[in-house]
Amino acid sequence: MNFDIKDISLAKKGKLRIEWASNNMPVLALIRKRFAKEKPLKGIKLAACLHVTTETGVLAQTLKAGGAQVFVCASNPLSTQDDVAASLVKDDKIPVFSIKGEDTKTYYSHIKSVLEVKPDITMDDGADLVSVVHKKDEKVHANIMGGTEETTTGVIRLRALAKENRLRYPIVAVNDALTKHLFDNRYGTGQSTMDGIVRATNKLIAGTKVVVCGYGWCGRGVALRAKGMAAHVIVAEVDPLRALEATMDGYEVMSLKKAARIGDIFITVTGDASVIRKEHFSLMKDGAIVANAGHFNVEIDIPALGKMTKTKRMIRDFVMEYNLKDKRRIYILGEGRLINLAAAEGHPAQVMDMSFANQALGAEYILKNHKKMKQSVYKVPEAIDSRIAFLKLRSMGINIDTLTKEQKKYLSSWEIGT
Ligand code: ADE
Repeated sequence: MNFDIKDISLAKKGKLRIEWASNNMPVLALIRKRFAKEKPLKGIKLAACLHVTTETGVLAQTLKAGGAQVFVCASNPLSTQDDVAASLVKDDKIPVFSIKGEDTKTYYSHIKSVLEVKPDITMDDGADLVSVVHKKDEKVHANIMGGTEETTTGVIRLRALAKENRLRYPIVAVNDALTKHLFDNRYGTGQSTMDGIVRATNKLIAGTKVVVCGYGWCGRGVALRAKGMAAHVIVAEVDPLRALEATMDGYEVMSLKKAARIGDIFITVTGDASVIRKEHFSLMKDGAIVANAGHFNVEIDIPALGKMTKTKRMIRDFVMEYNLKDKRRIYILGEGRLINLAAAEGHPAQVMDMSFANQALGAEYILKNHKKMKQSVYKVPEAIDSRIAFLKLRSMGINIDTLTKEQKKYLSSWEIGT
């Protein structure tokens, strides 16, 4: 079996940590049980380009239980948990190609390795895998029935590809499922981002001025958790509706240029490039901390900061101190990559349970339906989404009411008014 990981001797620790995550993924456990019985993915080669975490470990085991041959590579050079990679290889016989801290060349060579198996289904987080497929010659995608995409940024890239009529196979946008983005993006990113920042810096959040750039689902979650930790939260947002929402959610909303002078900690979660750039670095206080929780490392213009810098040094793990020519210090966390996965462990298993339930059922859906699907980006079917919500609630021991016959009738009629 081919694989490329850091150190196989880390497997024992990885196995225990995967087990810990699986204890908190009851919906995926139900799917795994059914998959093991029915083998709906039998004979399928599945290339998964995901953050190699304990939760991804549980997903890979689930897909394998369903009969798929699973091949895993990282969706970010800094997010791999090397012990998980080792355990998947040693204990589950799943080929993994990922090493935490790998350089860009190795990162892409690992993507190439999972494509060399000629997969039937791709599973992506950020669309780097699909993007490589589309930049390569025709042969690579010949086998591919369809793919799934985990994240907002990936879905945006794939919709752009579809818009140019260049998407070569159907994609199920897992991110668009309500049981994904309402929970993973909001509560997952919210908690894991603050976790990453605290682990990297050991700074007190209470009383700190935290500037959240972007008020999408992830930004909402980060702002909420920062507020919960008693930070003074400022939101910078370009969309008027979202800015209004942030205002009425109780945050101070202002331009990033104004916030730049005030903030102690800056967090980008926009999905766009060069959000924090020279004009903002120029205004920041000595000691400002800058982190990114958006998918790619493009939100902070680190090269621009480099040009303003006299010297730099790694003062703590994941904390680069930039000593500027004007004597101020600015700290960039985790090389501007996803701080929740670089310095912490990503989202907790409880939310990944729903995200990855959508992934597993999305793969099954593609296998069953790909012949009638177009080369386009699809939503996760509503029935799957609400089933996952139902199962999650049940796993939490929560029972909810159902509508009476009379109520159902009322909701489907127009006659009864005042
Ligand atoms: N993305 C964010 N958190 C994650 C996790 N724990 N596992 C896989 N992908 C993630």
